[in-house]
Amino acid sequence: MICRFLLSFLEIIDKLCRQGKKRICFNIYMDFLKKNALEDGRMQEKKSIHYNPYEGTNIVLIEKLIKSGVISPEDHIADIGCGAGIFLLYLASRGFYNLSGYEIDQTLYEQGQKNIESFYSKRKDSSNKIELLNVDAVNTEYPSDITCFYLFNTFYDKDTYLSWIKKVYSSWRDNQRKIKIIILFPTVASMGALRECNWLRETGRVIDKSHPCWRCVNFLVYETIDEKDSQIPV
Ligand SMILES: C[S@@+](CC[C@H](N)C(=O)[O-])C[C@H]1O[C@@H](n2cnc3c(N)ncnc32)[C@H](O)[C@@H]1O
Repeated sequence: MICRFLLSFLEIIDKLCRQGKKRICFNIYMDFLKKNALEDGRMQEKKSIHYNPYEGTNIVLIEKLIKSGVISPEDHIADIGCGAGIFLLYLASRGFYNLSGYEIDQTLYEQGQKNIESFYSKRKDSSNKIELLNVDAVNTEYPSDITCFYLFNTFYDKDTYLSWIKKVYSSWRDNQRKIKIIILFPTVASMGALRECNWLRETGRVIDKSHPCWRCVNFLVYETIDEKDSQIPV
């Protein structure tokens, strides 16, 4: 009886802790937007089964990713489904300078462009502005200098991930280099697709225990295999 009571009590504490963490993460995100006069994209209804509604990566998680050393300022990072560009802008505020974003939704893309203008209008050095493209990421050719692809709940199903991965593969074949693919909150669809590619291997997982969802993998990292082993078809 006492054990059951204790369990219920701890459950309530656990719930309160998670709510507190959520609130703090939200406030950190909003502070960054306010400080840089940025506007977030609006969460939209799902228009098609093939792509998900917008939600920005929380800054607490971006910080964790930077501190993990998985990404570095020298990387060319492409945010696949960049929404209003907040992920990229936060990286820019932390010294990353080679950044690009691909977004299918025109309203989010336009908000992203406005955010970039607003962000750089407050800075002396705007020579390395973020490049945004309003395109379907699945039907786009990727420059052969991208070293890191970042995705947060971009595609819905495994087939769409596989179609996108084919584009990454052809960029890699054009210029064989180390490419990282970083997935925030991997799904059965994204993991299923990545695991089918024998030219990619899982190299790491990043978990942030200060985030409310730390019990699941936050970031899953895949990398292209070494060049000497690369005569493998997609
Ligand atoms: C969950 S949001 C992530 C936003 C941003 N990457 C971030 O982490 O802050 C997913 C985004 O992917 C975009 N998206 C979905 N399918 C896409 C596609 N085929 N091409 C480009 N963008 C796509 C959606 O419009 C949405 O903005």
